[in-house]
Amino acid sequence: MHKMKLSNGIEIPVIGLGVYQSEFGEQTENAVEWALESGYRHIDTAKIYGNEQSVGSAILKSNISRKDIFLTTKLWNNDIRSGKMKEAFNESLEKLQTDYVDLYLIHWPVQGFTEAWKVLEELYFSKKIKVIGVSNFHQNHLSELDKAATVKPMINQIESHPMFNNQELIDYCQEQKITVQAWSPLGGNGTNIISNEILNEIGKKYNKSSAQVIIRWNLQRNVIPLPKSVNKNRIKSNIEVFDFNLTDEDMMRINELNEFKRVGPNPDDFKF
Ligand SMILES: NC(=O)c1ccc[n+]([C@@H]2O[C@H](COP(=O)([O-])OP(=O)(O)OC[C@H]3O[C@@H](n4cnc5c(N)ncnc54)[C@H](OP(=O)(O)O)[C@@H]3O)[C@@H](O)[C@H]2O)c1
Repeated sequence: MHKMKLSNGIEIPVIGLGVYQSEFGEQTENAVEWALESGYRHIDTAKIYGNEQSVGSAILKSNISRKDIFLTTKLWNNDIRSGKMKEAFNESLEKLQTDYVDLYLIHWPVQGFTEAWKVLEELYFSKKIKVIGVSNFHQNHLSELDKAATVKPMINQIESHPMFNNQELIDYCQEQKITVQAWSPLGGNGTNIISNEILNEIGKKYNKSSAQVIIRWNLQRNVIPLPKSVNKNRIKSNIEVFDFNLTDEDMMRINELNEFKRVGPNPDDFKF
């Protein structure tokens, strides 16, 4: 798996397996096992997904050394609101059956995120987290964080797919040396983004699916996509994207699909 360097020098595999809505137990364990077999070395979970234990078990069962897997989890909103950040982190470590995480993210910009960031910094300095970052942060949240932070976030994980490419925020982050990860890169569960005609048409030129085209489009704009699948063949095909290049014209056509249509909540107005 290809890697890119983050602002603190740590390398991250450029595609990660998402496990949101992968069920606890066999379903998630299988997905992670198949992903590792196919060559993924990057898994994206969160406390709120309820499957950290299954991710941890699958990693342990694989014969891959822990240090060769980039593992992400996230700090949930209520744990920030109740000031239980350290407890939540330790619980995640226990479920993941590991003594460090590669990436820990503040999941949403809830009130108290600057205090939470201080805890992430402390855990980062004590080497229990290799990379610290945020998720669903807009420019205003990032500037507020900047005022309180000693360490700048290395990652911002945000919604991005062809119907909501979020390019302005991506450009802003990249100018600030914050690497962007795309959540719901395929449009999430239950949308029909991957059946878009233009994406299919571009894919046909390279004998690739529209999902592979979207994943490749992300790589070419230096964004790390986190496609989720629990299907063995789709998991495998979602990383078969290193043997073709989209032209500038293809990239432009995909950029032009943007309809400013989110599939998830707006980080400036969410109620959980
Ligand atoms: N930070 C955040 O707030 C946040 C929010 C949402 C998501 N995320 C992260 O981002 C990851 C991805 O987002 P997501 O899970 O919402 O959606 P997604 O990856 O955009 O789409 C997943 C959907 O696409 C299907 N799929 C996957 N590969 C396919 C392919 N090659 N062809 C056709 N269908 C395919 C999956 O079905 P099957 O499983 O049946 O293949 C599933 O229904 C999450 O799992 C999570 O790790 C983070």
